[in-house]
Amino acid sequence: MQAPTFITGANRGIGLALTEALLAADHSVVATCRNPQKAGQLHALGKAHPHRLRILPLDVTDDASVDSLAATLIRDRLPLALLINNAGAMEAGFGLDNANREEFDRVFRTNVSAPFFLVKSLLPCLRMGAPARVVQISSILGSIASRTPEMGFRCYAYNSSKCALNMLSVMLAEELAGDQIDVTLLHPGWVATEMGGKEAPLQPRDSAAGLLRVIGRLQTGESGQFLDYEGNPLPW
Ligand SMILES: NC(=O)c1ccc[n+]([C@@H]2O[C@H](COP(=O)([O-])OP(=O)(O)OC[C@H]3O[C@@H](n4cnc5c(N)ncnc54)[C@H](OP(=O)(O)O)[C@@H]3O)[C@@H](O)[C@H]2O)c1
Repeated sequence: MQAPTFITGANRGIGLALTEALLAADHSVVATCRNPQKAGQLHALGKAHPHRLRILPLDVTDDASVDSLAATLIRDRLPLALLINNAGAMEAGFGLDNANREEFDRVFRTNVSAPFFLVKSLLPCLRMGAPARVVQISSILGSIASRTPEMGFRCYAYNSSKCALNMLSVMLAEELAGDQIDVTLLHPGWVATEMGGKEAPLQPRDSAAGLLRVIGRLQTGESGQFLDYEGNPLPW
């Protein structure tokens, strides 16, 4: 049986849709979220797939939470084939006038340092699962080459956090190549979630299906790319 997939922010949005799609495709999933007690939809999936879904608490910005989860999985000698860093945050107010330091730091901690240190903490499990893959859910909004003044949408913290995530992931891809751990950055499209808003054209299940198709097509050793949910390469 294939080693399980580990997902952050699995209680709603794209993370929940990825969990559902992986379970439907007979994969095992370690689904993590901040408040498992409030994750009703995740528990419903657990009832439907009792032996293939493990739900564990994880606040990706909290070192104690990360350390305790990593210690549990390492103690269990759990190999991981796929780590999906999906949890993400966006600031509430856009533009320079609305920027505030606390929000900025929260977004960077969630979108940049959290996925980086989660990879570091879970390295023993990824090495046990190798060849393995880390998927970083990034965004086209982090692409400097795609940026035009007409785009507006000046969420300074969010856009620059995804740009930083791209850079650190390219470096991780270099460093982890020797461990047979590949790293891929994926843009899920504009998706109708709490973050994406109701007007977004893509439903979470369609984004998740596309993301998993792209992941499934990647060969071992293909690492460091920035792709969208249809597999198209994106400009940095
Ligand atoms: N929706 C889009 O159009 C779009 C486009 C490009 C990229 N993305 C990226 O896709 C990913 C998923 O976004 P989404 O659209 O599904 O957003 P969402 O519906 O707002 O969900 C965000 C998820 O992240 C979790 N999260 C936030 N902070 C966390 C923390 N400190 N610890 C653990 N979990 C935390 C949330 O958990 P709680 O319920 O506990 O808050 C929730 O599960 C993000 O990385 C986002 O940047 C989304």
